[in-house]
Amino acid sequence: MRVKLKVWRQKNRNTAGNFVTYAIQNANPDMSILECLDVLNEELIENGEEPVAFEHDCREGICGSCGFMINGIAHGPLPATTVCQLTMRHFKDGEELTLEPWRARSFPLIKDLVVDRRSFDRVIAAGGYISVSTGSAPDGNAILVAKEASDRAMDAAACIGCGACVAACPNASAALFTGAKIAHLGILPQGKPEVDSRAVRMVAQMNAEGFGGCTNIGECTGVCPKEIPLEVIAAMNRDYLRGSWRARDNIVTTVRPFTEWSYGSKLQVDQTGER
Ligand code: SF4
Ligand code: FES
Repeated sequence: MRVKLKVWRQKNRNTAGNFVTYAIQNANPDMSILECLDVLNEELIENGEEPVAFEHDCREGICGSCGFMINGIAHGPLPATTVCQLTMRHFKDGEELTLEPWRARSFPLIKDLVVDRRSFDRVIAAGGYISVSTGSAPDGNAILVAKEASDRAMDAAACIGCGACVAACPNASAALFTGAKIAHLGILPQGKPEVDSRAVRMVAQMNAEGFGGCTNIGECTGVCPKEIPLEVIAAMNRDYLRGSWRARDNIVTTVRPFTEWSYGSKLQVDQTGER
């Protein structure tokens, strides 16, 4: 099959970017869109041109490395699918596909389709863990976990940290990601001792990174390849409100009430790359 790839090319965040269209003459319908980019890059390298930079690792939908916009949709048109799992047979012969990086101020561009998502790592480092006493490992099943709690925690733990939720949200909010990371620990008994402080610290870091506030639009869950439900945001808000009330006398300065959350974190980029 033949496709045209209209790819965002930008050397680095200090230079202007622009779209460049490449014609792929013999794409195999069974190859993934990343493999199609591999084919394009081989051609570019043979011609002495700069290959398209894009991120990937597992190529089986579990690591969260890959991700870009395809025709304006984070991870492309197929629900619950990462770009590494999206095969060319889902597109029409002769179709033009527009590939763009995630657009969000908290994900600064590195090159072409690659953005810096270390803001996510810092949100997790702020509280996405449980503190355990050192010593020998506890007996298996020493702490019983209700089936319903274990299922809900497992669903939240499916988040792969890809960043599609931020890219799709008009506010560039990281509420779905942060909610998932808070929920998968807070739902389990092992995560209960720090449930309040975890939410306060992770929400504080989310704000400090410049992500926008959640206004319940729901684009995030619509594009999420792991179908993380919106209920994790509700759970995060509950934990945050309870935690910030209990810690009201020693609250950290970066925590802001919901009403002050920024709505302007979406990076505006025009066709010439001007910001
Ligand atoms: S919540 Fe979904 S879209 Fe957001 S980072 Fe996690 S897996 Fe990706
Ligand atoms: S490369 Fe790992 S999820 Fe796509």
